[in-house]
Amino acid sequence: MLYPQSSSSRAMISLDGFWKFAPDVNDDGEQRGWTHQLPADREIAVPASWNEQYQDLMYFFGTGWYEREVELSRQLRSERIWLRVGSANYLSTVWVNGTEVGRHEGAHLPFVFEITEHVRWDGPNRITIRVDAAIAADRLPPGDVEHEQIVGFKGQYPNNYYDFFPYGGIHRSVTLITTPMSFVSDIRITTGIDGTAGKVKAHVGLSEGFEGACTVSIRGTQCRSSVKVHRDGADGGKAVFDFTVPAARLWCPEDPFLYELEVRLTDEDDHAIDQYVQSFGIRTVSIRGVELLLNGKPVFLTGFGMHEDFPVLGKGISPAVIAKDFNLLNWIGANSVRTSHYPYSDEFLSYADKHGLLVIGETPFVGFVRSHYQGTAILNKAKRVITEMIERDTNHPSIIAWSLANEGDTLAPEADAFYEALYSHAKSLDDTRPITIVNCVDVEKDVALKHYDFVSLNRYHGWYEQAGRLDEGCRILSEKLDRCYEVLGKPVMVTEFGADAVAGVHVDPPEVFSEEYQAEMVTRQYEIIRQKPYTIGAHVWSFADFKTSQTPSRVVVNRKGVFTRDRQPKLSAHKLKALWGGESR
Ligand code: GCU
Repeated sequence: MLYPQSSSSRAMISLDGFWKFAPDVNDDGEQRGWTHQLPADREIAVPASWNEQYQDLMYFFGTGWYEREVELSRQLRSERIWLRVGSANYLSTVWVNGTEVGRHEGAHLPFVFEITEHVRWDGPNRITIRVDAAIAADRLPPGDVEHEQIVGFKGQYPNNYYDFFPYGGIHRSVTLITTPMSFVSDIRITTGIDGTAGKVKAHVGLSEGFEGACTVSIRGTQCRSSVKVHRDGADGGKAVFDFTVPAARLWCPEDPFLYELEVRLTDEDDHAIDQYVQSFGIRTVSIRGVELLLNGKPVFLTGFGMHEDFPVLGKGISPAVIAKDFNLLNWIGANSVRTSHYPYSDEFLSYADKHGLLVIGETPFVGFVRSHYQGTAILNKAKRVITEMIERDTNHPSIIAWSLANEGDTLAPEADAFYEALYSHAKSLDDTRPITIVNCVDVEKDVALKHYDFVSLNRYHGWYEQAGRLDEGCRILSEKLDRCYEVLGKPVMVTEFGADAVAGVHVDPPEVFSEEYQAEMVTRQYEIIRQKPYTIGAHVWSFADFKTSQTPSRVVVNRKGVFTRDRQPKLSAHKLKALWGGESR
C-alpha cells in the first residue's frame, strides 16, 4: 500500500484537526440518523485517542462518531478521490454524504476507500466515521480473556488483559488523496548485494485497465527501464524491474542512505499520467549460525520495547513525540527498538529509515490463549493482519525482522500448528527478513518457537521472580539463557527485561520501585545478555512509562520506562547512556 504523496499527478488534503464528536452511549447512533447529522455534542482532535481529551471519555470503551465537512476544488473533478485513515481502534465504518463507502476491522494499520462517485462538487462534503472501540476476546489484541490468561493480572480494570491502555479513536492522520484515472497502485522493492553492487527488484502494481508505458528509474543512478503495458495484457496490471546499482551505498545505522525509485506512467502519446517516488535502502538482513547479519556483518540489537503512548494524545501520533523519542534513542545510544505490541505509524517507520534505527516490526497479537487456536476464525483474521502489515511496511529498510506474537500461550498443543501457520504465511509474503515470536513460558515446554528463525524472550528475574534479590535474579537469568540456547540451538533476543521505578523514589541499598534498583537491574542484566555468544540483542522494557489498565501493581502507569511518560530521564537512563556510549551531550 502506497503512503499518500503529493506530486505532479497527485494531491493530498489533510483532514487532521477538529471534528465534531459524539459518544454513542446507547449504541443507536445509526438509528438516530447520525450518518446524516451528528448531534453537535463536542469537538475532538484527530489524530488522538478520545479518552484523555475529555474526563468523561477516559473509561469510555464504546463507539464514537466523528464528522467533518470538506469542500473540493472543481480542478479535481477529473481525478479519482480516496479517503485514507492511518489507523483507528478498532472497527471503523465510513460514510460520505450519508452513503456508506467502507468498513475496516483492526487498529494500527491504514485503510483506504475510493469515494469518487460519492463526492459533491457544488458544496461541502460530509464525512462521517464510526469507531467501535469495544474490548473483546475475538479482537486483535484480544481482551477479556482473564479466565484463560497465562500471564498478566487478574481483575484489572478495564479487563483488556494486555498491559497497555485500550485507547479508542482515530489515532493517525485522515487524508483525502487524488490520483489520475490510471495510476501506480503498489510498489514492492527487495534488495540484495553482489560484491560492491546493489541488486534491486521492483514489483510495480498498476490500476486496472491502464494502457501505456511504465518507466522506472533510480534517481542519481543510470538505472532506468520502460515497459509497454497492454490493457488486457498477460502482465495482469503489474510490471517487474531488475536493476544493478554499481558501487551501491548500503543502508545501515551509520549511513542510512536512501535511494529514490521513481515510477512514471505515460500514455501512447508519451503524455505523463501518474508519478510516484518510493524511497528505499539497499541492504540485506540474515541469520548465520548464532549471528544476526546486516549487509553480511554481525549486529547486536541494543535498545527498547516501546509504546505509542503520550499524555493527552493517548495512542494518537505526534511528529513532535516521534522526533523527541528518536532524539532520546540517539542520546542514550540505542540502535534498535521493537514496535511492541502492534505496527507503529508510517511516520515512525519512515523516520527510522532516515535515521538508521533498526526495527523489529510486531503484530498486535498479544496474549493469544488456547481458545484462539480453535478453528480458523482467529487464524484467518491474524493472517489478514500480517498481510496488511507486510504490504504496508515491506519497503522500510529499518524493519529488519518481524515478530508475529507477544506472550501467547505457547504451551497449548494447538499452538504448534497455529504459530507454524502464522510463520509460513509471513514467510510466503516476505522471505527477506528473519521472523520471531516472543516467549514468556518455559522454553522446554514451548511448542511454537521451533518454527521461528530466532528466539525472543521476555524475562523478569529480579522483578516478577526473585523480586528484591538481584544477585539471584541475575544468576538465574544467565542460566535460563544458556538453557534456552541448549534446547533450541537458535539465536536468542531478549525482548524484555526490566523493573518498575517511580521517578523520584531513591532507596539505598536499592529496593524494588526505586530508581537505584531499576538502574542496577537493567545495566547488570544487559551485560549478562550481551556477553552470551548466541544472543543477537537486548531490549530493556521499556523506553518510557506508559498508561495501562488499573491494577494494584501499576502506579497509575507502568513504571518500567527508563524515561518518564513525559520523556524525562530516570537514573537508569543515565546509567545505560554511559554503558551504551550514547551522545555526549
Ligand atoms: C510483559 C509484556 C509487556 C508488559 C510487561 C510488564 O512481558 O510483554 O507488555 O508491559 O511484561 O509486565 O511490564
